[in-house]
Amino acid sequence: MDKKINIAIDGPAAAGKSTISKRVAERLGYIYIDTGAMYRAVTLLYIEKGKDIIDSLEDVEITFKREDGNRVLLNGRDVTEEIRSESVTSKVSEVSSFEAVRSYLVSMQQKLGLDKGVVMDGRDIGTTVLPDAELKVFMQASPKVRAERRLAEERARGSSIDLEQLTAQIIKRDELDMNREISPLVKAEDAVLLDTTDMTIAEVEDFILEIAQNKIGEE
Ligand code: DC
Repeated sequence: MDKKINIAIDGPAAAGKSTISKRVAERLGYIYIDTGAMYRAVTLLYIEKGKDIIDSLEDVEITFKREDGNRVLLNGRDVTEEIRSESVTSKVSEVSSFEAVRSYLVSMQQKLGLDKGVVMDGRDIGTTVLPDAELKVFMQASPKVRAERRLAEERARGSSIDLEQLTAQIIKRDELDMNREISPLVKAEDAVLLDTTDMTIAEVEDFILEIAQNKIGEE
């Protein structure tokens, strides 16, 4: 049987990382891990309980339920929809810049990657979480295209946010994510740079799968 590899997909907000990572994982029979959802879950708790939760992160359990389309559970409670809310989105870059939050989640993510066969997406997967991942991709797309893609998702969820607000939100989040002190968003030296501005989902998926299959063949 083929050996399993780990695939790290990083990039700015709304570059299409989760859509692609989910599809690549499905095609390879791998596990998809959305690390942004983990930072969002901690942010939700921070909003609900206040900053003291940062001192007791060991009590925070975040799990993924694969059935029913990848639900996110925070201490057993299904928060899949809530973590995409406006209030979480506008606070998540701040909460994810705290050292205690990063070290707690990074070690949890590293454990999930131990057995290989994982597609993990985020901001620091190729640089910090899985520096030995066999395949690293850094996905880019213009802010305009990213906002347009996100708008379709927001509309589907019934949100009334407009394109201008979304573009501003995305640019602000990029800036915070790229300029934080601890493991900022940056392309790993050995990551493949992929600009998806003019690519379809199927094209991006095929591109990554082809490199993945080659890497798997090398193992
Ligand atoms: O992928 P996303 O938009 O759901 O991520 C939400 C935020 O979480 C993002 O703005 C920054 C933070 N994040 C991070 O700091 N490190 C990661 N590996 C993933 C997300």
